[in-house]
Amino acid sequence: MHHFDYRDGVLHGEGVSLEALAATVGTPCYVYSRATLVRHWQVMDAALAAVDHTICYSVKANSNLAVLQLLASLGSGFDIVSRGELERVIAAGGDPSRVVFSGVGKGDAEIEAALIAGIRCVNVESGDELAVIEGVARSLDLRAPIAIRVNPDVDARTHAYIATGLKTSKFGVDVDRAMALYRVAAASPHLEVVGVDTHIGSQLTDVEPLVEALDCVLALVDRLAAEGITLRHVDMGGGLGIPYRDEITAPPRAYGEALCSRLSARGLSLIVEPGRVIAGNAGLLLMRVLATKENGEKRFVIVDAGMNDNMRPTLYGAWQRIMPVRDPGDAPLAAVDVVGPVCETGDFFAKDRDLPPARRGDLLAMMSAGAYGFAMASTYNSRVRPAEVLVHGDAWALIRERESVSDLWRGEHLIDASWLAPGAADDPDDHGGHGGHGGGTRQR
Ligand code: LLP
Repeated sequence: MHHFDYRDGVLHGEGVSLEALAATVGTPCYVYSRATLVRHWQVMDAALAAVDHTICYSVKANSNLAVLQLLASLGSGFDIVSRGELERVIAAGGDPSRVVFSGVGKGDAEIEAALIAGIRCVNVESGDELAVIEGVARSLDLRAPIAIRVNPDVDARTHAYIATGLKTSKFGVDVDRAMALYRVAAASPHLEVVGVDTHIGSQLTDVEPLVEALDCVLALVDRLAAEGITLRHVDMGGGLGIPYRDEITAPPRAYGEALCSRLSARGLSLIVEPGRVIAGNAGLLLMRVLATKENGEKRFVIVDAGMNDNMRPTLYGAWQRIMPVRDPGDAPLAAVDVVGPVCETGDFFAKDRDLPPARRGDLLAMMSAGAYGFAMASTYNSRVRPAEVLVHGDAWALIRERESVSDLWRGEHLIDASWLAPGAADDPDDHGGHGGHGGGTRQR
């Protein structure tokens, strides 16, 4: 559910007219609803009430500081995958002791920063990583709380790019390797075994694969217990899907019941890392029509947002609803491609989509864009990344300024003028691509 509806013929985010917002903030612009974010988090919290649990919101879905600040104020923990995400959580007022650190490749310095910050658990992805964590913990003279990420070899039945629980994927370790790593960890004075972790994929519509994964994890918990290694928590990752179109997705209540019923008798606490289900339908991408045209049979609506602003349609062939900001009533529909300004044929938001007529200057909203929208935006084609706005009742706040053009080259440096003129050392036929070093003279 969300809080974007037509009022008096104009699409609103809560009580805020998106037409008025676009006039002030400009487009493209991401708009998030505070009420929707809060509701989604609270529904998840209530769904897990039967067991001791921590919601560690997956920062990668939407990492805007104000979104993190809002979720932290509800008591949320956070799932991070980088030093940058850790620092975002801290800057937003999040509690590091409610942070879990996931990710298949963590840098040594990132691990050190996380341990110094006092995070709740590092989710370990390999033997090499376990050794690094132990070394860092030893040098800091502390015990690092760890869980091993298990790959349960479960088919999450989702898009191949976002399925992570099959044994052919790079994520986690198989159960036997996990056993071996736990034995190593349990014997180390610098490692504290606190839990077990898994995450089988994203945009899951069904709870069944998650239950299968949980059963696999619980069998591992029992094997460990038989060896005297007891765990305090099970981290089931994220993955619960949302309806983008007409998918029937398992509601958080069913998800909660499935997990809690298996855990409540065991005295294990539960960690979950939801991202999309919290933020996805809490946001939209507001954009303006730049032009319309026909090429042969095809009709195109060209908008001022592109694949750099929301890459999900391009990357996954994802379907996201597109709504006119002015209620079209029962205007006739016609099939159009909604495309962006980026110089790639793959820069599309919708293909052969039945939409009411659109004209230059009209506003459109791409729905379900609160998760993995801005978070995956880039500046490709030297396009500035969009503004982000949070609406709350009749009020709104700019929570990220539109990037400025000079932001685009922050950190870039012009070279010394002496490198510009062709010199004696330059061989016009050499396109070997070695690059030069210093002072304009090539080093070979
Ligand atoms: N935990 C871990 C370890 C993860 O890798 C992820 C997502 C999550 C939690 C959160 O999953 P969620 O609840 O949001 O499904 N860019 C893709 C999704 C990539 C998901 C990556 N990992 C998309 O736009 O569909």
